[in-house]
Amino acid sequence: MQGALHFSTITDQSAIDRLTNAMFSCHLLIVGQTGSGKTTSTLSLLSQLQQLDQTAIILDPTGEYAKLPNAITYRLGDNCYLEAGWLTVDQLLAALQLRVSSLVRTKLRQAITDLQIQHNIYSEQGTYRRLGRRLASYREDENQLGAWASDYPLTDLFAQLIEEFVIPYADDRADYTLLGQQYDRAAINRAWPVLTAIHDQLASPTFQALFDTGHHAGTMKSELNFILKMFLHHQSSHRTLVIDLSLLKNYEGSQQLIISLLLKEILRLRLRDNAGFPVNVVIDEAHRYLPQDEHALADNGIFQLVREGRKLNLKMILTTQSPLDLPARLRAQFGDLLVHRLLDQTETASLPGVKLDPAVTSQLPVGSAELCVLGESPALVRVNLPQWWKDGGRHE
Ligand SMILES: Nc1ncnc2c1ncn2[C@@H]1O[C@H](COP(=O)(O)OP(=O)(O)O)[C@@H](O)[C@H]1O
Ligand SMILES: [Mg+2]
Repeated sequence: MQGALHFSTITDQSAIDRLTNAMFSCHLLIVGQTGSGKTTSTLSLLSQLQQLDQTAIILDPTGEYAKLPNAITYRLGDNCYLEAGWLTVDQLLAALQLRVSSLVRTKLRQAITDLQIQHNIYSEQGTYRRLGRRLASYREDENQLGAWASDYPLTDLFAQLIEEFVIPYADDRADYTLLGQQYDRAAINRAWPVLTAIHDQLASPTFQALFDTGHHAGTMKSELNFILKMFLHHQSSHRTLVIDLSLLKNYEGSQQLIISLLLKEILRLRLRDNAGFPVNVVIDEAHRYLPQDEHALADNGIFQLVREGRKLNLKMILTTQSPLDLPARLRAQFGDLLVHRLLDQTETASLPGVKLDPAVTSQLPVGSAELCVLGESPALVRVNLPQWWKDGGRHE
């Protein structure tokens, strides 16, 4: 191809300069139909960033980035887990993919509070007994809870949920200074289908691995939040962090939630303590992890990081099949584009900030793209495979 640029090889300095300059001023959107080379280009780019000692965090829902050499890889449910206490009730329910009545939701929130008291204030195992406990003493316990005391054992959540159904006696033995004197068995029975669904979901192997409820002695697992904190704070010699979320492959809703949470956490950590060095955050096939509902967009971590990350030196690199899969408000935030083959001319027309010829974008061969760097005219580039790929993917 005439005038083609090779951005994955060191030999073509001009292309590298273009891309790396681009990397540090704008977010980058990589688009193209399935099989057009988006993931390969992203891997190439990540190799390039490694050469330049740049930091990157890849949230990898499919496990495709496990083959990237020189990366620190954490696989959720394998060598890392999520702390349940990090999630609100609604987030927990979303992660478990459960819809419950407002009564059960209230009970669940209460159960979490009670387990937090039991676990952090009393440092005791098992459930927090409500039966026969004084209301006044409960208030005291509750007041001692701080943000530091958020962790709790998810394994006890079901039993604690039953404990939430205590009520006073219904006759003149009733003592209204107590949380309760008997179990409201009728209410438990009414909620039983939902309660057992919660029980089963919490006991499923996926969620046991996700929240590390098994706690197998002798295995080393790190908490995901802690990993992010360390990685964002210390510039380690390995600057590529892959968080493999493929355990949740069959739970796109949970992946969406966790990706959103992790991105908000990255933002929060940066806001609190901006270590200065730029961080590239990568999500492949990002449209799958965005809410369908425009109103929910403002609360989504991808959107928040794209909107607020630049001033914190956080650069987002997203890939998606079609620019039309991204809400226009999000699309407009990308200054740099790598456009692989797009079949539909309305897709090409929807690219933010550039006018590309649909006759060209629809004919791009695999691995070729138009590179649109903000402030420069678009250039046709051919993406070379990284050296390790050509070596047959052999690496330590
Ligand atoms: N730059 C490239 N050079 C050579 N082959 C490529 C290149 N990009 C992609 N390919 C080939 O095309 C296949 C599909 O590419 P991939 O990156 O997975 O596409 P996408 O992520 O857009 O679906 C890859 O497995 C690879 O064999
Ligand atoms: Mg891909």
